[in-house]
Amino acid sequence: MRITYLCLALLTVTSVSANEPSAVRQAELRHLIKHDCGSCHGLTLKGGLGPSLLAKDLQHKPNRDLVQTIQQGRPGTAMPPWAPFISLVETRWLVENILKKP
Ligand code: HEC
Repeated sequence: MRITYLCLALLTVTSVSANEPSAVRQAELRHLIKHDCGSCHGLTLKGGLGPSLLAKDLQHKPNRDLVQTIQQGRPGTAMPPWAPFISLVETRWLVENILKKP
């Protein structure tokens, strides 16, 4: 009986909501944006080798396209595919909650 309760408790702690990364992962993603994306898009994301990723410059671009670019990269350009490192759910969260928020 106790084991069941323990398992249930663990499940609750480790379960991740279907459309939002865990708090720890959110912190990792914020760090990644600055340090990994920032190496090409500028530390403040104002643009560098890659275009600006500031909210004001992305507002009019459909989320679907931005998510696709981040996941698959842009073949023939320096923009690499991030799918091996950032899941689809995480990418959507990034676009909606970080990149498109001022
Ligand atoms: C090695 C350099 C490099 C890195 C690292 C990089 N990018 Fe890019 N990114 C580019 C380039 C160059 C382009 C423009 C591609 C083109 O010419 O179409 C681009 C384009 C984009 C676009 C499309 C912008 C638009 O206006 O359509 C998005 C979104 C984007 N990158 C997000 C990211 C994110 C998020 C990360 C980090 C997870 C990242 N990039 C890391 C070089 C990079």
